[in-house]
Amino acid sequence: MESKIILEARSICKSFHDPIKIDVLKDISFSINSGDFVSIIGKSGCGKSTLLYILSTMDTDYTGELFIDSENMRGKSEKQLASIRNEKIGFVFQFHYLLNEFTVLKNVMLPGFKLDKFEEEELENNALKLLKTLGIEKLAHKMAYKLSGGEKQRVAIARSMINDPLIIMCDEPTGNLDNKNSDIVYETFKELTEVYKKTLLIVTHDLILAEGTERIITMDDGRIIT
Ligand SMILES: Nc1ncnc2c1ncn2[C@@H]1O[C@H](COP(=O)(O)OP(=O)(O)O)[C@@H](O)[C@H]1O
Ligand SMILES: [Mg+2]
Repeated sequence: MESKIILEARSICKSFHDPIKIDVLKDISFSINSGDFVSIIGKSGCGKSTLLYILSTMDTDYTGELFIDSENMRGKSEKQLASIRNEKIGFVFQFHYLLNEFTVLKNVMLPGFKLDKFEEEELENNALKLLKTLGIEKLAHKMAYKLSGGEKQRVAIARSMINDPLIIMCDEPTGNLDNKNSDIVYETFKELTEVYKKTLLIVTHDLILAEGTERIITMDDGRIIT
């Protein structure tokens, strides 16, 4: 199968003025193909989260170019970017940000209501299918606050997939988990890429997690070094 470029960063640079100018990202260029399972590693403070914020279109204050699905993100309105994000990018963060007073099923469905592409019934079926894929269908009707940390993270992964995004971006997805739950989350990612051909970009300082991915991009002090 021919693989297609899904995301491309061209010479991305970013500085903070705090109050003096600090260059946090320096000439970042790389691309991700459909089906890739990639991690970005590097020490705390090297710029990983700042980069992911730009790649996910949430931060537009940078120089250089970002292409998602062959489309240049430069010059798009906030509304256009929000719509691209919701349709094409799934997110998993260190802290899950589930809505505690909602059931697992509703939490997974939420980004789907925003996209407004499916009727509620179809959305619910899709959410149930995802929970099954991740082996947590038993949790569907539990309230989110009753879950363990590892369960919450798997629900967050299901939620990130509800709109069938082109790419799933994760920032320290195991950062808040013990070894056992980190392993479960890793196995989930592996299954998503191998069985479901999902495209994953994981930013982490967890070397064990990174070593399990197919490609490792190493950052140091705002640059890609390998
Ligand atoms: N809003 C901000 N204002 C000023 N400096 C920031 C801001 N956000 C991050 N930084 C700095 O940018 C650098 C990279 O941070 P970050 O991207 O969070 O690193 P990582 O995710 O790799 O730990 C750090 O030195 C951090 O202090
Ligand atoms: Mg970070």
